Amino acid sequence: MDRRTFLAATGAAGAAGLFDPAMAAAADSRRFPQGFLWGAATAGHQIEGNNVASDVWLLEQVKPTLFAEPSGDAGNGFALWPGDLDLVHALGLNTYRFSLEWARIEPEPGQFSLAMLDHYQAIVEGCRARNLTPVVTFNHFTTPRWFAAQGGWTHPDSPARFARFCDRAARHLAAGIGYATTLNEPNTVAIMQEVFPPPMLAAARAMNAAAARACNAAHFANAVVPDPGDIAVLQENLVAGHRQGRAAIKAVRGDLPVGVSLAVSDDQAEGPGSLRDARRKAFYEPWLTVAREDDFLGVQNYARARWNDRGLVPPLAGAPRNAMGQEIYPASLAGAVRHAHAVSGVPILVTEHGVGTPDDAVRAAFIPASLAPLRAAMADGVPVLGYIHWSLIDNFEWIFGYGPKFGLCSLDRTTFERRPKPSAGVLGAIARRNGLD
Ligand code: BGC
Repeated sequence: MDRRTFLAATGAAGAAGLFDPAMAAAADSRRFPQGFLWGAATAGHQIEGNNVASDVWLLEQVKPTLFAEPSGDAGNGFALWPGDLDLVHALGLNTYRFSLEWARIEPEPGQFSLAMLDHYQAIVEGCRARNLTPVVTFNHFTTPRWFAAQGGWTHPDSPARFARFCDRAARHLAAGIGYATTLNEPNTVAIMQEVFPPPMLAAARAMNAAAARACNAAHFANAVVPDPGDIAVLQENLVAGHRQGRAAIKAVRGDLPVGVSLAVSDDQAEGPGSLRDARRKAFYEPWLTVAREDDFLGVQNYARARWNDRGLVPPLAGAPRNAMGQEIYPASLAGAVRHAHAVSGVPILVTEHGVGTPDDAVRAAFIPASLAPLRAAMADGVPVLGYIHWSLIDNFEWIFGYGPKFGLCSLDRTTFERRPKPSAGVLGAIARRNGLD
């Protein structure tokens, strides 16, 4: 299918008119606007398996490593993607978010693989064939090993290298994409410095040094678990990378909505002199300001954070917790979305939201409990284009390995069988009704 046919078939939205506020305000408060995107997300490295030319594959193997276990075959999503798209469709969703693996498409600097571009093109077309809107993340944390071995995002040429990749990928794929994001959570590198305890920062430094030795490189830098000394320059180059990547994609297809996905917690002020606003200024404002230039902003929320005048306030005794010990607080999604829109001024697409728990009943209750406040924010005029749950399938959760379970579907790591959990039915029913009840 050529680009023109795709556009005609999908009515792809341009920058303007992505959201009709009158429609959201007027409609029944339990229903969502027509055309609302309901989806599930995955990311290449976490689901595909055998992403051997990537930086993270190496980090999983070196000693010392912060990774609990190697990613290995992951969910074998590289081979099994058609079944995954069938699953998204069968659940009643209309949107699938996935990412491109830069290391597969450009395994050596400047050498682009047509076969791999065709692979991702088949996924885009597979989405369209099932009436799923493809939301494509051009880079979800992992970079090619050669890129990391040349200093990764600390290298002055890194934004241009990323833009060259975006240009090549967009020329192959952009016609069929519904929404594109350049980078996934590039704002977390700064947050890590604050939330990682000092021994973990030291371990990150040691792991990156081991990877540098393995590649005979002077400096190995990655964006998943960065060396703390790299953080300031990483931030600067990631911002430039987003801008140049977006320009490259827009140059190929100007009417494709392009944004960036940010990790946004619902920061709340507790008592007088709360550090909340200072934290927002340091961690969110720079990126939310950059997002003003975009067509939309991807918001990814997992928690709230309460700040008093000394720092983070621990969850109340007895508050429900997820598997990582964080409080489960459904209203955080709407809080994060309201703030992100207030500062950025652009429409919001929830590109991730979920809960890591082995108890799927928690997830099944969490989804509608989070969507009701989100709908209320929309009634107040916050433009929200859609809701994409993290994740479609239990997967490789970075340094935590396969322990945390975020999936709407389980994964059998021997047979690769995916099995929908009850929460998948809950989200699917909401999507089919386009309403909470
Ligand atoms: C990331 C995902 C990750 C999820 C759950 C997000 O920060 O984008 O890659 O799996 O959180 O931990």
